Amino acid sequence: MPATAPATSRANAESDPPVLRVDGLGVRFGSQQVLRDISLDLDAGQTLVVLGESGCGKTVLLKTMIGLVRPTAGDVAFEGRSLSRMNDRQLAHLRTKYGFVFQGAALFDSYTIADNIAFPLREHTRLSEHEIAEIVGTLVDEVGLPRTVLLKKPVQLSGGMRKRAGLARALALDPQLVLYDEPTTGLDPIMTDVINELILRVRERPRVTSVVVTHDMSTARKVADRIIMLYPLFRLRPDEPQIVFDGTPADLDRSRDPRVRQFIEGRAGNRLTELLEEQGLTERGRPTATDGGAVTDDETTDDEEETT
Ligand SMILES: Nc1ncnc2c1ncn2[C@@H]1O[C@H](COP(=O)(O)OP(=O)(O)O)[C@@H](O)[C@H]1O
Ligand SMILES: [Mg+2]
Repeated sequence: MPATAPATSRANAESDPPVLRVDGLGVRFGSQQVLRDISLDLDAGQTLVVLGESGCGKTVLLKTMIGLVRPTAGDVAFEGRSLSRMNDRQLAHLRTKYGFVFQGAALFDSYTIADNIAFPLREHTRLSEHEIAEIVGTLVDEVGLPRTVLLKKPVQLSGGMRKRAGLARALALDPQLVLYDEPTTGLDPIMTDVINELILRVRERPRVTSVVVTHDMSTARKVADRIIMLYPLFRLRPDEPQIVFDGTPADLDRSRDPRVRQFIEGRAGNRLTELLEEQGLTERGRPTATDGGAVTDDETTDDEEETT
């Protein structure tokens, strides 16, 4: 399965309105602000990769795109229609135009693979069982699974096979927008590349727009037309934009921004010290002098007991 060169069939993309517009988006959970003032237009046919360290808000951003998380500021619009103005029925209909591949594949454990993939077709179409079986067969072929998996349960499949079955289900309704959340996490490098190739194949479907959340640089470099990198808000000043990078994979490699370089080169920097400090420990593993609380059980000494 050769990786086909992207972009050729997308000559008209610029003149079309964005498929998805994220405008001044903010999300807060209680006192924790997770996303702040995110604006982003997604063109038809584009594959956007969202990079960023764990906890910076990537999954939350994906969930606002499908209306699973309601923003506390700003808005998301799909083909010019604001999600915040849709009722539950309209949102449910909208989601039939989306395919999502969530972390851990999220298959129904008690269903066979065939029933898992058929699920959206049974829910949202009036196709006959015969037609459904035919589509399910084509989908497993498309993701490179043998048809013998159809009668198996998810638990009988390897991680990579489950991810592919999850992708087949996501494609069942022929979505316009496919969202992937960490599609290669937990896979070995070869299976990671199989998934990368499948993401490339999916983007060759006419007019499919994709958003791929990942921290895998091989995936980012291979599938992206465009990459954005989010940064955790607590590491930013109030006036600094949360999207710290927006460009092509080649631009990313040329970036001089230390936050970008640290991520793509996978350097810990001072993070270990920070993590230990969060636990009230110094780098030597002893409690810090200023800390009164977070001492773990096995670190507790006699004179530290009953201080609260
Ligand atoms: N439903 C929720 N309620 C409260 N906090 C949440 C919720 N969803 C996510 N968060 C918090 O938002 C932050 C970003 O989460 P997430 O988007 O999952 O990060 P990641 O970039 O790793 O995908 C985390 O601190 C997480 O705990
Ligand atoms: Mg996540």
